[in-house]
Amino acid sequence: MIPSVLPTYSRLPLSFVSGEGSWLVEADGRRFLDMGAGIAVNALGHAAPELVAALTAQAAKLWHVSNLYTIPEQQQLADKLVELTFADTVFFTNSGTEAAELAIKMARKYHDEAGAPRAQIVALQGAFHGRSTGAIAMAGGDKMVKGFGPLMPGFVHVPFGEDEALLAAVTEDTAAVIVEPIQGEGGIRAIPDATLKALRARCDKVGALLIFDEVQCGMGRTGRLFAHEHAGVTPDIMMSAKGIGGGFPLGAVLATEEAAQGMKAGTHGSTYGGNPLGCAVGLKVTGIVSDPAFLAEVNRKAGLLRQSLEGLVASHPAIFETVRGTGLMIGLKCRVAPADLVAAAQAEGLLTVPAADNVVRLLPALNIPDEDIAEAVARLDRAACALAQKPAESA
Ligand SMILES: Cc1ncc(COP(=O)(O)O)c(C=O)c1O
Repeated sequence: MIPSVLPTYSRLPLSFVSGEGSWLVEADGRRFLDMGAGIAVNALGHAAPELVAALTAQAAKLWHVSNLYTIPEQQQLADKLVELTFADTVFFTNSGTEAAELAIKMARKYHDEAGAPRAQIVALQGAFHGRSTGAIAMAGGDKMVKGFGPLMPGFVHVPFGEDEALLAAVTEDTAAVIVEPIQGEGGIRAIPDATLKALRARCDKVGALLIFDEVQCGMGRTGRLFAHEHAGVTPDIMMSAKGIGGGFPLGAVLATEEAAQGMKAGTHGSTYGGNPLGCAVGLKVTGIVSDPAFLAEVNRKAGLLRQSLEGLVASHPAIFETVRGTGLMIGLKCRVAPADLVAAAQAEGLLTVPAADNVVRLLPALNIPDEDIAEAVARLDRAACALAQKPAESA
């Protein structure tokens, strides 16, 4: 019999009932150190007092009015994001997937508005942009699209890491190129700064728009507010979600005035997007995470974690191949199946997240205390020792 919850997820047999900071409490009372943070969502940890206060204060005032009216919290958050980034304008969504949908629409509409319609969007293999029909067509991975055709046409996929092929794919027929500056689900694979720069130049040359998907790598995760800042390159359109709501469902599409020129009244909308609750929390998260002192701390913590992980990898060469990533977006490339490491870590009371390319991700709260970093590495060490004693099972 089909479960009452549609069985689209392979869930672990854990149900958490409360959380505080980087810790989660299971229904049976066990405490787990959370190095996944809801897959890069709980940017300030669980039950962050500032976010609880922002949410409950708004909840007591006003939940929802619809976008028929001006929403002051939405206006304030948009102003703040415009002030902090390349963008001139922002549309709020409830998720990363919805941000992907608008990014596609905005790019195509831009060219239509300019009188020379273009539909083609160039994307990278191994990308993840969400689960709507548009987002799966855009990312194009076999597992995601199988059985859901016919797919939305107009997407071209280039292998990750093949710069020449990528630049050659961007022509005067291209409406936009979309990349994650650091692929998350794809296995913490960063696009080199030089490639992002070359892509920007190529897009400018042929009149294509450049879209960055910063749903996972943005909002302070890499030690800068947005990951593209490391490369000194700005997009025309950017998707944000996950960390921006700190656990409350919120996403956003940020764009330049030029890129957004086709998006006039009636061209797009969302019942809940940008509602007072989400924006009150998003405003608080954005204020905290964009503070240079907070980002300096993220970088210091990232250095601490990275150094310990380099040691861990060196002392377990049969388990780990390498450590990669930027800031607190870290991938442990494994020599064992990632699921085995995730399970061994779980047995030590540590939560991690698997990804493609044989990687286990560490995406902790950005304010994780130093002692929790040390504890996480100690637990990973024990997990690796336990795995090393069972080579036959993990082979
Ligand atoms: C880079 C990226 N884009 C888009 C999405 C989709 O976001 P959501 O699950 O909020 O729809 C994700 C989710 O993992 C993501 O990592």
